[in-house]
This record gives sequence, structure tokens and C-alpha cells, in this order.
Amino acid sequence: MATLRPLDPPHKGIRNALSQLSLAAGSTAASDIAAVEALVTLCIDVLDFLDEHADFEEKYILEPLEERVPGAGAADHAAHQELETKVQGLRDLLTSLTSTPNQDTIDAFYTEVVLFQAAYLVHMAQEEATTERLMMEHFSDEELIGHQIAIMGETSFESLLRMFRFIAPARRLDENLQVMQAFRANAPEPAFAAVLATLQSAMPAVQYNALIDALG
Ligand SMILES: [Fe+2]
Ligand SMILES: [Fe+2]
Repeated sequence: MATLRPLDPPHKGIRNALSQLSLAAGSTAASDIAAVEALVTLCIDVLDFLDEHADFEEKYILEPLEERVPGAGAADHAAHQELETKVQGLRDLLTSLTSTPNQDTIDAFYTEVVLFQAAYLVHMAQEEATTERLMMEHFSDEELIGHQIAIMGETSFESLLRMFRFIAPARRLDENLQVMQAFRANAPEPAFAAVLATLQSAMPAVQYNALIDALG
């Protein structure tokens, strides 16, 4: 039985991302053009983050699990297809947000975002209750770490920064410290500096300063 929970970091990051999106959608006035543009940019970032997560989940969770527990990935795979339809629906709404930026459009968008958030939260809870448990039962920590290394290898630096931006503020200090110590030991200095800058803008000052202090 593995001790690593492979879905814990991305799911915490997704909960953070979806919270930011619903907060922004509910507090944006149509008359504030800059805020509408920021809302659209955030929404694209969040949806890209979700699409990337679903792709990695298909490749490094559902496919390997199917090999050891045939049929175990079917429900999540079907859920991913349903959620992808909703993601596409939100992407389509973004077009109307920029072409006809009135308050009714934004209010309707907010409602859709909140319903999507609810559906996605349920999906993640189901994955954690079933799929993640099965991964831990049928794979070793070494194998799960191997999957994580493979995912990192397939992630562009831009996507990596987005992962840090959404995931790190949602995790504990000791977890972030472990990740950042490993990153500092293996990444070039400019990459480490870019991640720190991302964290500084994504985290409350208290959380960021505690991490910097712990890193020494
Ligand atoms: Fe999923
Ligand atoms: Fe997931």
C-alpha cells in the first residue's frame, strides 16, 4: 500500500483555482473593462489547468490502473468526457463576455461557473474516494513518484509555473518546503527564481515569508 496520494496536490490546486474563478466572476462589473479582461484571462488559465490535469489523469492514473484493475477507470473516463463538454461550454461563454460585456452576460456566466465548480468538486471527491485509493493499493510509492516525474517531464515551464501558482498556496508549509528544496537542488537558478516570483504573487505575504524563512 502506497502512502503517497497522487491526486492530493493537483486537486487542492484545482479547488483553489475554481474558488478564485467563482470569486472573480461574482465580483466583476461589466463596466470595468480591465476587470472583465482579467476575468477572461483567469478563466482561460483555470480551464487550461483543468484540461491539462484531465489529460495527465487519463495517462498516468486511469491507463495504468486499467492494466492492473480492468474496468476501474471507466467511470472517471466517462466523467471526464461530460466535464469536458462543460469546459467547452464555459469557453464558448467567454466569447460572449468579451463581445457583449453587459452585466446580464456576466451574471449568467457566474451561474454557469458556480454550477461547474459544484460538479467538478463532486468529481474530485469521487476520484479521491475510489480511484486514488485503488492507485495506492495497486502501486508503490516508487511507481507513483515515477508517474510524477514523467508528468513533470511533459510539462512546459509555463505550465509548471501555473501549477505552482494554483497548487502551492493550497498546500501546507512542510509540503511546499519539500517540493521547493527538491526544485532548488535540481533546477537552474533562473527557473528557481521564476518560481519564487510566481509564489510571491500567488501567496499571502505571511505564507510566502514563512516559506522563504524555512528555505533559509
Ligand atoms: Fe478527473
Ligand atoms: Fe482529478
